[in-house]
Amino acid sequence: MPAMADFVVVANRLPVDIRRDEKGTLDWERSPGGLVTALAPVMQQEEGAWVGWNGAADMHVDPFTADGMHLVPVALSETEVADYYEGFSNGTLWPLYHDVIVPPEFHRQWWNCYDRVNRTFAKAAADVAAKGATVWVQDYQLQLVPALLRKYRPDLTIGWFNHIPFPPVEIFSQMPWREYILEGLLGADLIGFQRSWDAENFLRSVKRLTGHKVRGRTITVGTGAKYPTRKVKVGIHPISIDTPSFMKMAASDDVAARAREIREELGHPDVLLLGVDRLDYTKGIRHRLKIFGELLRDGLVKSPEVCMIQVASPSRERVQQYKDLRDEVEVTVGRINGDYADLGRSPVHYLHQTFPQEEMAALYRAADVMLVTSLRDGMNLVAKEFVAAQVDLDGVLVLSEFTGAADDLPQALVMNPHDIEGAKRTVMQAIEMSTTEKRRRMRALRRRVKDNPVQKWAEKFLHDLKAAGQ
Ligand code: F6P
Repeated sequence: MPAMADFVVVANRLPVDIRRDEKGTLDWERSPGGLVTALAPVMQQEEGAWVGWNGAADMHVDPFTADGMHLVPVALSETEVADYYEGFSNGTLWPLYHDVIVPPEFHRQWWNCYDRVNRTFAKAAADVAAKGATVWVQDYQLQLVPALLRKYRPDLTIGWFNHIPFPPVEIFSQMPWREYILEGLLGADLIGFQRSWDAENFLRSVKRLTGHKVRGRTITVGTGAKYPTRKVKVGIHPISIDTPSFMKMAASDDVAARAREIREELGHPDVLLLGVDRLDYTKGIRHRLKIFGELLRDGLVKSPEVCMIQVASPSRERVQQYKDLRDEVEVTVGRINGDYADLGRSPVHYLHQTFPQEEMAALYRAADVMLVTSLRDGMNLVAKEFVAAQVDLDGVLVLSEFTGAADDLPQALVMNPHDIEGAKRTVMQAIEMSTTEKRRRMRALRRRVKDNPVQKWAEKFLHDLKAAGQ
């Protein structure tokens, strides 16, 4: 473990799940999730430190090295998990930044705790960063860290990247602590977003809600008299996946065999539709089920010839909106299966589970049509994984226009999940697409995903950060 690191990542979560066995011995396992997939390869290449929460309440763990990464755990108490993580991060910011699909809740107690925990993260990063180090802060849970870090350590170059959307100023303005959040972010040298819309929304909020001067994608902060002026750059950096390793894994004989086995287990359907998401209301799972249910009802597709697998991995299970969503999804799946199943053959195979990457790759390869119907999504890495897994070029990607991925993958069948009739037509178009057309589209999609792996995303961000910090 280096005493001081020249490169530090600060994220809500560490890239590993830590457990203690009965004897109290520490054990860890690489954790799933977009952010981890995105940054682990970069961390392994660069000798850096990663500051993050270990995922459990009241667990104090000393810094350690895992998977070639130097990890600095931040301990959160039970109350902090409830108020900072489940509360302000996922009950306030998450819905506010995702088009208020469910109403955000504003509680002063949650905000105070968010502020306190952001200070804890900033202190931990300040303690581990070497003189003049580069610190890359991740995501909406840590929006106050850039300014705090600059206060503690003015020598650092600081970047912040938002993995989720940034809302329009009309929605962001609901936030009672909006100026604090903007000033927190403006402590960075470079602020990165997934899409140009997000960057525009942010710049408009800065213009409207602070006194800072905005010119193009540069913000000038500081008064010049008491505080020196400083430029903050805003950039667009669409995230991606570890394409080389995902493509290699998906092309393996084991994954190919497992894909064949999956189709066999389902009784060799003519068409297999697939949905893969965290069980989150932003993902449009209910819209997707409605679309499939209506196609069955209208007789446009028949079970068991056409069936669907919906993987909905458990997420934020103690947050009320997530509990409600689970109930609604499970009632809907039950209703569709009740109406259209035969003995031993269901139209919807619902899996409220988390699977290893190899199994996911096999599911992607087994599927004919991938349905990504998010109502709002920063990027959606599942769409890119599906493309990377299409070794045989025979899958079709149906993709919501409300994902960041829609900008990067224009050869998908891009649709509006709120337009149920339009979405039904798009799904039918995917089902009926000719082999030539499928291959043409998939070849172009694969080129895009191959040419833009997550390694390139990180390189580009760090390159721009260096330039911004000079
Ligand atoms: O996309 C935002 C994000 O916070 C990711 O960083 C993370 O992998 C995912 O959502 C799941 O979030 P959580 O850490 O709350 O389980």
